[in-house]
Amino acid sequence: MRDLSHPLSETAPGETGQGGSGFSRRAFLKGSGAAVAASVIATAVEESIAQEKKVQRVVAGKPTELKLDINGKSQTVTVEPRVTLLDVLRNDLNLTGAKEVCTTTNCGACTVLIDGKPALACAKFAVECLGKKITTVEGLNSGKELDDVVKCFVKHDATQCGYCTPGFMVATKAFVSANPGATLEQIRKGLGGNICRCGTYDGLAKAAVECVANAKKGGK
Ligand code: FES
Ligand code: FES
Repeated sequence: MRDLSHPLSETAPGETGQGGSGFSRRAFLKGSGAAVAASVIATAVEESIAQEKKVQRVVAGKPTELKLDINGKSQTVTVEPRVTLLDVLRNDLNLTGAKEVCTTTNCGACTVLIDGKPALACAKFAVECLGKKITTVEGLNSGKELDDVVKCFVKHDATQCGYCTPGFMVATKAFVSANPGATLEQIRKGLGGNICRCGTYDGLAKAAVECVANAKKGGK
């Protein structure tokens, strides 16, 4: 029987309790559970501090070595934390497909994919891209075959000076993947963030419509 008169008594029959050796199995288990929990928390705190220090090192403003995953290849650059992804691509890695036109997130010429989603490289710091998969327009050419988006742009002559074209191609790639059954109206709206000064919108729309149709048929 439990001695309910004692405030500390949780001793079940067969357990050693307050009048015995002073050692309770339940108390021991509770104690060891607490020790494990404390150890887990301590580890988590240490990891969190280490992570914080890592971030602080990057934010400190000194050139930092970054390993970036670009078009399926690991690329190492040493840049200051304030450097944009667009500058790293164009100036450090000679990947000049993404264009620097407005630099203020208004034209879409610098569009790349980050983890499969469209992003403006002029508005991303390179350090923000650690651990992410970046695809530029150069990545739409496997070396053996051109991506269907590129083929459709060529077929429909969807380019004039070419400055907006890489951004349009990458944005179209992302849009088609996310909206395989899109209508012309949805395509126009979906690609509305990309601007073409030469006004090749008719060819661009035709190219995107064909990409959508090919995606529906199971093309790439
Ligand atoms: S250069 Fe990035 S949006 Fe215009
Ligand atoms: S083709 Fe010249 S800006 Fe679009």
